[in-house]
Amino acid sequence: MGDVVTDRLPLFPFLSPGDDPFTPVGGADLRRLDGPVTRVRLPTGGWTWLVTRHGDVKQMLRSDAFSADMARPGFPLLRQAPPQTPEGRRGGFIRMDGEEHLRLRRMLTAEFMIKNIRRIEPLIGDVVDGALTALQAGQRPADLVAGFALPVPSLVICHLLGVPYADHGFFQQRSAILLDRTAGPLAVRDAVTGLRSYLGRLIEDKRVSGTPGDDLLGRLITERVRTGELEVGELIGMALLLLIAGHETTANMIGLSVLLLLQHPQVWDRLRAEPAQADAVVEELLRYLTIVRQGLPRQAIRDVEVGGRRIRAGEPVTALLSLANRDAEVFDAAQEFDPYREAHQHLAFGFGVHQCIGQPLARAELRIALTGLAARLPGLRLAADPADLPKRDNSIVYGLAELPVTW
Ligand code: HEM
Repeated sequence: MGDVVTDRLPLFPFLSPGDDPFTPVGGADLRRLDGPVTRVRLPTGGWTWLVTRHGDVKQMLRSDAFSADMARPGFPLLRQAPPQTPEGRRGGFIRMDGEEHLRLRRMLTAEFMIKNIRRIEPLIGDVVDGALTALQAGQRPADLVAGFALPVPSLVICHLLGVPYADHGFFQQRSAILLDRTAGPLAVRDAVTGLRSYLGRLIEDKRVSGTPGDDLLGRLITERVRTGELEVGELIGMALLLLIAGHETTANMIGLSVLLLLQHPQVWDRLRAEPAQADAVVEELLRYLTIVRQGLPRQAIRDVEVGGRRIRAGEPVTALLSLANRDAEVFDAAQEFDPYREAHQHLAFGFGVHQCIGQPLARAELRIALTGLAARLPGLRLAADPADLPKRDNSIVYGLAELPVTW
């Protein structure tokens, strides 16, 4: 496709229209899409196929005709790739294919299974209680993002991994750069290098201590590194992926969920009166908010048909989860927030081999955080005009930068 034609395509990613954080793609952008599988322009100069229907997204994400390896030339990138050595990408299995991906993912599957997450629910409860106690003791109005939404998942993932939470300023600042699609290539490279050397030192300390400990990194050292199954460079990359995915995502979900629930007081009240119903509310929040708004990037590795379109080997493709989760063929009144619908078919965690490994943890964190908040701060209310709230429009994971509240 020539440049002249690419120039006329709608520019992706789409931002929420105006000040509405709950409409992932506004009418103006929707009208510019000429079909459910259509081309859009990327900020890096190229273009990508955008796949928007629920069924097509599922077909695409479960097909082995697509690669998730972003080092491939022609992969759809939202920003210029940093000059990276293969070492900088080791262990980051979210962007690997086939056996290479499965080998690393399998080492973590048991850790994140529901039965293991059940075991850490008391810990999540303690973390939520502690954050709420600190919030109540502090000033009003308070920023719920800085005082609750971010520290809760961050404390939990630090505890699980065995990373000192005291260093959160260091890794949160760098993980925000990694998720910022406007960050320059050198800033991204420096953030990766800084995080990898930080985690490398931590892992080395655990390794030489003789007793690596009973946290996830300690166990992986004992059970996989010492047995020769896993190299330290790979473990560093896995730790990096879990650290970033483990707090940025759930944190943004908590912030946006609270904003939405405060605008639906009957749901908020019901969450307090019937916490057992919280699972259904959480599922609908995941569908409705779909925080991975910029979709999942892939590249076709052979010719394949999706949604009636022929996609050729080498062409870039993006699965737009946010529109798939508003597909009227699958969800009645898809644009409505209805916490008592059956939303479990949503694709907020992706689909197929890369489907989110942390979903049982994310669900437990959301349920415990939201029910805890509703129980302890029943009078919670916004302390700002919702239209003025700063959004994370540039982040690969959408959310609120601040949420001033009082009670
Ligand atoms: C993968 C969403 C929480 C760890 C993914 C993917 C999505 C996603 C859409 C698929 C990416 C792709 O196919 O390219 C979310 C959302 C979360 C959340 C919406 C919170 C509400 C978490 C947590 C963890 C985590 C808490 C870790 C502890 C991962 C990992 C992958 C992944 C390791 C890569 C899996 C693979 O490639 O096999 N997540 N996630 N996520 N997520 Fe999550």
